[in-house]
Amino acid sequence: MTGNDQRATDLARDDMRPGEKTVELPMRQDAHLLFIGRISTPWKSRDECPRQGKHDGPLCTIEVFEPWQDALRGLEHFQQVEVLYWLDRSRRDLVLQNPARDGTLRGTFALRSPARPNPIGTSMAKLVEIGEGRLVVQGLDCVDGTPLIDLKPNRCEFTPLAVMKPGKGKAE
Ligand SMILES: C[S@@+](CC[C@H](N)C(=O)[O-])C[C@H]1O[C@@H](n2cnc3c(N)ncnc32)[C@H](O)[C@@H]1O
Repeated sequence: MTGNDQRATDLARDDMRPGEKTVELPMRQDAHLLFIGRISTPWKSRDECPRQGKHDGPLCTIEVFEPWQDALRGLEHFQQVEVLYWLDRSRRDLVLQNPARDGTLRGTFALRSPARPNPIGTSMAKLVEIGEGRLVVQGLDCVDGTPLIDLKPNRCEFTPLAVMKPGKGKAE
């Protein structure tokens, strides 16, 4: 099965479960995202992915596209990297979900489900290796080829570098 076929299969599997509620998606768009790279993982479909990545999980490679590769400078000093990705095989119109398929409904914002209006996934990944435009990490849970939208150093390891803001703590 090609990647496109598998993507179509993943999306076609988005049948509604009992009690789930959708809304009509607004036509307007409020922001424009840039995909800054691509994530390679061992998983070819949503079903194969773990629910959440683990730091002893398989090695995954993050490719950062030009012109963003210089933006990786300094990231090598961190043990963990927050990875933000676009869950591109998700439906975006669900407000109530039935995750356990047992009729118990939860609001989308009370879940970490990939189905959400802006399908952003986040994982605090373990940084194994970093080279030019390429990171090897553990701790992801996304399908092979998932678009990368951002990388940030682990908040707990990070000491703000910006000058102090008047009347406040240090800036971000
Ligand atoms: C529960 S979400 C968690 C994502 C992230 N760790 C978070 O908490 O924001 C992970 C699941 O999303 C699904 N998934 C993975 N990659 C996807 C993609 N590219 N598009 C849509 N769904 C995806 C898989 O079913 C996977 O098990």
